[in-house]
Amino acid sequence: MAGLIPQAFIDDLIGKADIVEIIGSRVPLKKAGREYRACCPFHNEKTPSFWVSPVKQFYHCFGCGAHGTALGFLMNFDRLPFPEAVEELASRLGVEVPREETPGAAPLRTVDEDLYTLMGKAANFYREQLARDERARGYAARRGLDAQVIERFGIGYAPDAWNEVLKRFGASDASRQKLSDTGLIIAREKGDGWYDRFRDRLMFPIRDARGRVIAFGGRVLDQGEPKYLNSPETALFHKGRELYGLYEARQDRAPLRRLIIVEGYMDVVRLHQSGITHAVATLGTATTPEHLKRAFRVVSEVIFCFDGDRAGRAAAWRALQNALPEATAGRELKFLFLPEGEDPDTLVGKEGRAGFEARYADALPLSEYLVAHLAESIDIRHADGKARFVAEARPLLERMPAGPYRELLLERLAQAIGVSAERFLTIVGPVNAAADPRSSGSTRSAARPPARTAHSAGRGGLVRQAVQTLLHFPALATRIDDGDIAALDSLDEPGIEVLRELLAQLREHPAASTAQVLERWREHPLGERLAKLAMSESNTPDAEAATQELVNALRRLAQGAAMSELDALIEKEQRSGLEPAERERLRTLLRESRDPAR
Ligand code: GTP
Ligand code: MN
Repeated sequence: MAGLIPQAFIDDLIGKADIVEIIGSRVPLKKAGREYRACCPFHNEKTPSFWVSPVKQFYHCFGCGAHGTALGFLMNFDRLPFPEAVEELASRLGVEVPREETPGAAPLRTVDEDLYTLMGKAANFYREQLARDERARGYAARRGLDAQVIERFGIGYAPDAWNEVLKRFGASDASRQKLSDTGLIIAREKGDGWYDRFRDRLMFPIRDARGRVIAFGGRVLDQGEPKYLNSPETALFHKGRELYGLYEARQDRAPLRRLIIVEGYMDVVRLHQSGITHAVATLGTATTPEHLKRAFRVVSEVIFCFDGDRAGRAAAWRALQNALPEATAGRELKFLFLPEGEDPDTLVGKEGRAGFEARYADALPLSEYLVAHLAESIDIRHADGKARFVAEARPLLERMPAGPYRELLLERLAQAIGVSAERFLTIVGPVNAAADPRSSGSTRSAARPPARTAHSAGRGGLVRQAVQTLLHFPALATRIDDGDIAALDSLDEPGIEVLRELLAQLREHPAASTAQVLERWREHPLGERLAKLAMSESNTPDAEAATQELVNALRRLAQGAAMSELDALIEKEQRSGLEPAERERLRTLLRESRDPAR
């Protein structure tokens, strides 16, 4: 299970990100003064009212009110859940997202960069070997692979020898250790030396999102056991996460709208070769929720493709169960069954791209497949069959996050057995919600700001002004004197708690941009209100003027508070007299109100 993303990392990410570049790569932006503008991607408009501020690292639309940071934009525009938006941003900046199990614990594990280099070199070596080896080239040709697709996928050949890789890349103890860490060589049982893992195989490099080779799949030429040999799990490679062909699918210049998940390497390669470049495969494992998370990070439609035989059907049902946690509104999940005895490789060979894609029309939506599968094994014409149907549906529903998708499925299930949704619900009983992958609570750091406060940030002109100035110029929090901060302690204005928290936080953890501050407050009940304040234009020209403005606001707040306390004490004295401590306080206040130094 993925751990928490440390808040400090998000802070850093927002600090490094360039919102103009992130949005600019998705929406055509025009420079307008210090900001950029465009027609809003979140509502229909003809004249641009969407603004992006490089200084605040913030966007907002005057038309529909959409606003946020680079992360918020990725969440709204690419429809990514928070952790995935973080991943996306991080991968653009070329950094790994650290995870911590408990806040402040476990230092992040970094992968030795040399391992990637080594895998890249090995891939080149295998490619050269394929070019040289007539038998291997003959096999590739018989499988219908053309030169272009071999090049695009970096397909190679591991020679029929025990130590070619070892000899080339394992000259020293240190380099042998690294080779072994990548899984390219294996230690001999008796501890006397090493040998190459892949021998006499057609080699398919498996690449990560950035195109780095992280593993290989090797197929025997013609017959032999095992037919496919994969790299073991290593620091670089986690089989249950990777989708073969995803990197190559994303390289295509056409926009990627859907992915089809097939079963084999050869299927992916042959589909790409025939122009179906949205094909990917799991690596001989069932599709995991992790796979689907990856897929839905880049598209909103996923088609599972299975052979029509019994093994294919079993795999499809397993895939459905694993897909349920990822089934949320806005995502399309479909199941395509091929005729028995065919796989995508053979079919696309016969039918070509158009014929194969025409089959998509027959793909069953997840809900239809689920109902069909349940109804297949249960006679739902009778009451006890209906009860069994409901009983079997229940754990499936429980795997889904609560939400419109589950509601729809529930209605569909009810319809299948001819009862109303209400009736179905009373039979099935309360269904527990699975963790909604979109509510990011469990994956966020607990090192969050602020506790709840009853007051709003908006009321009280001075408080509002101070908060707004801090949002626009967060760096100046560190320039305020302790005395001015301490004076806020006794105040009781609406919104003052937010101001206090904001100041305290920014003094302890300075921030450079508005966006950084807003990300820290993302989950706070008042985060949204802060974002609105951040949008409003400030008339303050620079940080110098802003500091003055902020100090003035803080002092006037403190003075105002002192004056009302003074008034209250004087009034009380006239009415009923004061306690000794109150009398002392009154004296202090009177002294201070006459002393302009304060
Ligand atoms: P071809 O026979 O080359 O067409 O392979 P295929 O891609 O059609 O593979 P198949 O349908 O037999 O298997 C689908 C996928 O399961 C393969 O691409 C592999 O990832 C995996 N697989 C198949 N056989 C083996 C095996 O013997 N060992 C392992 N580890 N994986 C296998
Ligand atoms: Mn095949």
